[in-house]
Amino acid sequence: MSLISTDLQRAVSYLQQGIPVAIPTETVYGLAAPINQKKAIKAIFSLKNRPLNHPLIVHIAPGWDITKLVRNVSNTAKHLMHHFWPGPLTLVFESGEHIEPLITGHQPTIAIRCPDHPLTQELLKKLNTPLVAPSANPFGKVSPTTAQHVQQSFPEEDLFILDGGRCTVGIESTIVDVTAVSGFNILRHGLLDETRLQQASLVESFTEEKRAIQTPGRLAQHYQPETTLFYFSSYEALNQFCQKNLGQVYVIASKKPEGIKEGFFNPLPSTPAGVAYNLYDSLRQGDKSGAQWLAIELPRTGSEWEGIRERIMKAGTYAS
Ligand code: TXA
Ligand code: MG
Repeated sequence: MSLISTDLQRAVSYLQQGIPVAIPTETVYGLAAPINQKKAIKAIFSLKNRPLNHPLIVHIAPGWDITKLVRNVSNTAKHLMHHFWPGPLTLVFESGEHIEPLITGHQPTIAIRCPDHPLTQELLKKLNTPLVAPSANPFGKVSPTTAQHVQQSFPEEDLFILDGGRCTVGIESTIVDVTAVSGFNILRHGLLDETRLQQASLVESFTEEKRAIQTPGRLAQHYQPETTLFYFSSYEALNQFCQKNLGQVYVIASKKPEGIKEGFFNPLPSTPAGVAYNLYDSLRQGDKSGAQWLAIELPRTGSEWEGIRERIMKAGTYAS
């Protein structure tokens, strides 16, 4: 059984020995290994059952020099780093020389982010080496937002889980390609949306021809709970489904449909930040409820909802 602990020194020591450690970030928990520990990186792929061609994000502490990791940094990238690091933003650069190909999935690019979590920042500073960290869940499943979620995600393992409390953002970072001379291209939506990125970088999202960058993580299905999840584009449609299947559905919606028991309902907050904070926890609660199906109301379209909609649409099946 995995150990949940706040012992930073032990986490440092394990990582130095090449043993992967689960770490907290503001988005979701990650399964970390130092970028120069090939054996530990391989162990992460096998723990997660993750295909080897899915590249990993490199995590750095605030203020660290990235020039050894990347080939060049555009002005757009500089603006974005200045405004949003530390924070839930991953930037994809052209990779520098001598980067372990396991990290980049043999691609010419490298993804970097600076997490906004005090414990992990301290860990990085003590280690003095960047960490790769995919989300700490089996491949394709729901990401963990607490140390307990990590423990439940790997029931058979003896992981060391550094406990940094509940993640304040709750969904994975926004991933942005900044390899063009100027401008950016969103590869994975998150809580930091296109409008805010444009305001900070002072450019439109695509100032160059959109490039065919390979992002294997953009699969049609991801973030999946164990129970089948249906999503509905209106509350009325969701309510109809619930009335036909009373007693069998766990509901995540803006209001509780009539006849649904308290233990089978999780309210959907009205803001993107509120939904992000709760989303994965509510899917896990739905899994535990014993319901036959999960049903969720899909928030409306709009830049600020894109990250949430992307998660729900990949986790579930469109019902009506
Ligand atoms: O919030 C987050 O980003 C969390 C925390 C732990 O930092 N990490 C995370 O990692 O979500 P992961 O491995 O679950 O998702 C990383 C995504 C994948 O879709 C991967 O394909 C993409 O990042 N990625 C990594 N390196 C890339 C690269 N060089 N080019 C394009 N996409 C890349
Ligand atoms: Mg993931």
